[in-house]
Amino acid sequence: MTSSKKIAVVTGASSGIGSVYADRLARRGYDLLLVARRRERLQNLATKLEQTYGIKAETFVADLEKEGDLARLESVLASNPAIRVLVNNAGIAKLSLVAETPMKDSLSQIALNITALTRLTHAVLPAFKERNEGVIINIASVLAVHALPISSIYSGTKAFVLNFSRGLQQELASTGVRVQVVLPAATATDLWDISGVPLAALPQETVMSVENLVDAALAGFDQGESVTLPSMADAGLWERYDTARSDLFAATQTGKPAPRLLSL
Ligand SMILES: NC(=O)c1ccc[n+]([C@@H]2O[C@H](COP(=O)([O-])OP(=O)(O)OC[C@H]3O[C@@H](n4cnc5c(N)ncnc54)[C@H](OP(=O)(O)O)[C@@H]3O)[C@@H](O)[C@H]2O)c1
Repeated sequence: MTSSKKIAVVTGASSGIGSVYADRLARRGYDLLLVARRRERLQNLATKLEQTYGIKAETFVADLEKEGDLARLESVLASNPAIRVLVNNAGIAKLSLVAETPMKDSLSQIALNITALTRLTHAVLPAFKERNEGVIINIASVLAVHALPISSIYSGTKAFVLNFSRGLQQELASTGVRVQVVLPAATATDLWDISGVPLAALPQETVMSVENLVDAALAGFDQGESVTLPSMADAGLWERYDTARSDLFAATQTGKPAPRLLSL
């Protein structure tokens, strides 16, 4: 992923993980399209990255939960042939018991974490496939494979991102289009305070810096990983998990009720 005058689109670039992806992709020579709601933060980052790396960075102010903004971005993604990388990073967490979560918070997570990510992926895919070139990086979470009482909705949205990405990887296996799904564990960003669980409340030894997270995720990309858990030392763990998952699926293909479930 080194290039000049190709454009990388980063959603949620105004803070946290997205802002560091923007920096690292600019360092690799990409021009940028930086997407989020906070115009001033996007503009400041764009100016800094242009000065630092001599690339061109444009901003695209959009609320990706809103139909009109999403449609505007979709049409840019579908029509600009210089776009070669999409980092689907924008996401939110609202961590609370379902019964105590306002419906609008649940729907917000679904709209941003699932619907926007899906629509933006749809928007870039035809051109990526046509050119047989392109990179999609989907930011999921380790909560894609784990649910806590307060993370039912968030975990559900990230499980979608994981399975959506895994299916896409198979669809695109014989093409030059790459999909990487990244499963960060706790990372020091604003997400936590916004989620209702303050970052300061987490055991600090479990929290990764945002720079380490993005650099490790990109190292995983460079090494050809399709699923990257940046904080997991034993890569074999994922292999074993995925083999068990696959065996589980195969074991359901019997067409008969399991003996233990037959009524006596
Ligand atoms: N931090 C962690 O521990 C952690 C762990 C696992 C996964 N993740 C995932 O990492 C991704 C990035 O999160 P982060 O930790 O970097 O949090 P963050 O600092 O809060 O960044 C979230 C980004 O998403 C943007 N965003 C939020 N709502 C939006 C909307 N409606 N429309 C457009 N953009 C919107 C925000 O920008 P504006 O407010 O300017 O719109 C911001 O740039 C998310 O998908 C998150 O689920 C984070």
